[in-house]
Amino acid sequence: MISAEQNDRLTRIGPGTPAGALMRRYWQPAALIEELAGERPVVPVRLLGQDLVLFRRADGAYGLLDRDCPHRGADLAFARLEPEGLRCAFHGWLFDTQGRCRDTPAEPEGSALAASVCLRSYPVQVRNGIVFAYLGGGEPPSFPNFDCFVAPDSHSFAFKGFWEANWLQALEVGIDPAHASYLHRFFADDDPAVRYGQQFRAHSSNSALPMTRILREFARPRIDVEHSDFGFRLVARRALGDGTTHVRVTNLVFPHLVVLPLSPEMIISQWHVPVDDRGCYWYAIFTSFGAPVDKDAMRAQRLALYTLPDYKSRRNHANNYGHDPREQRTETYTGMGHDINVHDQWAVESPGPIRDRTRETLGYSDRGVVAYRRLLTEALATEEAGGRQLMVLDPEAACRLGGPGTLDAILPDERWEALWREIDASRRRAAPWAPPGAAD
Ligand code: FES
Ligand SMILES: [Fe+2]
Repeated sequence: MISAEQNDRLTRIGPGTPAGALMRRYWQPAALIEELAGERPVVPVRLLGQDLVLFRRADGAYGLLDRDCPHRGADLAFARLEPEGLRCAFHGWLFDTQGRCRDTPAEPEGSALAASVCLRSYPVQVRNGIVFAYLGGGEPPSFPNFDCFVAPDSHSFAFKGFWEANWLQALEVGIDPAHASYLHRFFADDDPAVRYGQQFRAHSSNSALPMTRILREFARPRIDVEHSDFGFRLVARRALGDGTTHVRVTNLVFPHLVVLPLSPEMIISQWHVPVDDRGCYWYAIFTSFGAPVDKDAMRAQRLALYTLPDYKSRRNHANNYGHDPREQRTETYTGMGHDINVHDQWAVESPGPIRDRTRETLGYSDRGVVAYRRLLTEALATEEAGGRQLMVLDPEAACRLGGPGTLDAILPDERWEALWREIDASRRRAAPWAPPGAAD
């Protein structure tokens, strides 16, 4: 339980808030490249409580600008896209990718007004299907050498989905290893081969045991938090009682990225990005260490749930997430279907848009949640003191930071600690695209 003041401090990310200032020190996923695929690559973006417009010119240059025209505030998401930039549809003012006004055609001939007008612009970088934006001041940090950024396009797939709740609720589901045994419980196992690209539906590495069975039958994991240069690692262990242990290693990369195993050959890197205080997008890059990713299959699976252009879920509070009492009795723990994204969405949204954390009761299984809130609280104090933040990387530090390592495997009880890194390293060595070594 935390105080109402502390809850506000941790959750609110608008301009001028402490957590807002902290979040603005990091690159934020702002859009998927696929959103810019049409004949007019201009999309509105709401990010950290700010309204922006993202566009790509014919020459390939990206621009990310404040969305309200500095003349009289018309919406630049409806601007005309021209070779030089965006031309406001109201009086024709033209803005380049830097936000400089290049033309004010309704003004008298020879007017110097354009030279005095500038719209705020933000740096943009593209990495494996995601457009990242930097909304802070000063130099943006460097991107680490993480697998999701280094892998070739053929071995990556990016997607996103909207959840109607504060970003911290979403993140706290991602660092909660125990919930998978309940929220994502299936009463019958299915063939992992038909569950390509879906979390908790494959089998664990080194084992024929389906994940569904491990999670269902060994539902009281031991959870350890190991602090690291990037945030922390969560090690969840389920002793199987035959001298072996199911070990699952996941990572929290500060401030809001989780890196998880998906299957023996694939990982997910998932950011929980604040749209504003009451909504967030999860952005994910799926990265394969083995075969190229079947992007069409991955996309089709996700479009069965998410609608375009907003990537909002067909199942939501308005239709009770498709809750079916018969299914809840006989097939799934939630009765909300077999797509675990729906389960997570319900867990994130149902506490309300900003959970009142003065009313919660944390237990042992919340060790990741507690560790994260401590990290965030410290980072907010560091921000106010003007200190150095975790993961605000210079190029040299970024180059050294590979990985992070993940694992989902069944290992001997006594040797899991020595073995897990070796298994992660051997998967990297065998990969067709030379992933960098994982950081400690
Ligand atoms: S409001 Fe944009 S040009 Fe007038
Ligand atoms: Fe989950």
